[in-house]
Amino acid sequence: MTDVRHFLNLADAGTDGIAAMLADALDRKAARTGWPKGRPDADAPLAGHVLACVFEKNSTRTRVSFDMAIRQLGGSSIVMDAGQMQLGRGETVADTARILSGYCDAIMIRTDDHAKVEEMAAYASVPVINGLTDASHPCQIMADLLTIVESGRALPGLKVAWLGDGNNVLASIVEAATLMQFDVVAACPQGFQPEEEAITRASGRARVVADPREAVEGADVVVTDTWISMGQAQADTKLRAMLPYQVTLALMALARPGAAFLHCLPAHRGEEVAAEVIDGPQSLIWAEAENRLHAQKAVLRWCFGQIG
Ligand code: CP
Ligand code: NVA
Repeated sequence: MTDVRHFLNLADAGTDGIAAMLADALDRKAARTGWPKGRPDADAPLAGHVLACVFEKNSTRTRVSFDMAIRQLGGSSIVMDAGQMQLGRGETVADTARILSGYCDAIMIRTDDHAKVEEMAAYASVPVINGLTDASHPCQIMADLLTIVESGRALPGLKVAWLGDGNNVLASIVEAATLMQFDVVAACPQGFQPEEEAITRASGRARVVADPREAVEGADVVVTDTWISMGQAQADTKLRAMLPYQVTLALMALARPGAAFLHCLPAHRGEEVAAEVIDGPQSLIWAEAENRLHAQKAVLRWCFGQIG
């Protein structure tokens, strides 16, 4: 047992930790309005700290937002693609964890098998952050929660609709629903539903339906994601099964008037979402993407015990 704070899933921070991170992100974002992006926050709370970022999969938002997050907190980063590390030639995750812990103050890793981030955390003596695995994407959902709160919506009692693949991003939304007391209705085609266990764990906060109209009916927020996640084969059968789940203007019209649309990005217009929706007035995707930076700063501060 160690007192190092790892952020592998939202439950690691819990309801109070998430609430504290959201409040901190809102405050810090407001305090640096109009500043150059690279200027550190006035208090530079992580001055001298170095974040190691390890990528076993592609990334734009996670890569740049974590790099900028640690800089704005007064620290610096080393960003590495696993293919250029010995990790890519078979050095174990456990050994990599011990090595990076000797040089750096925290590790963020994006990988495939969730067991790898757990192994990293088990052998690291510094905080480990999950930058996406096949099972979950908690950092993305911190940004989504921040975007929802910032738009003036309260989380408790909110109805969130998910359309499409029962993937890693949905798993973290379902986890957030239980912790922050909102409801998720996910419409997913047969064969592409989330794991039943995750829905059971949500203790009534999440349900899966087949009809996309049922999911969006009266929703405050509508969310989707790519139909083919990183590491998955492009399959025509899957794309065909997903087509009725495309977020269209007609489906958005069944949600609450003015309902928000979210997408973690990258997006595929004409697949999981119609261009008119993602580029339309209900879409909050650009705020959501920018909020990765503000949310990641709060995650880093939580990991170092500065908040929550
Ligand atoms: N949403 C997200 O995680 O984006 P990247 O894959 O670009 O990091
Ligand atoms: N579900 C997607 C999210 C990308 C940010 C994937 O895993 O590829």
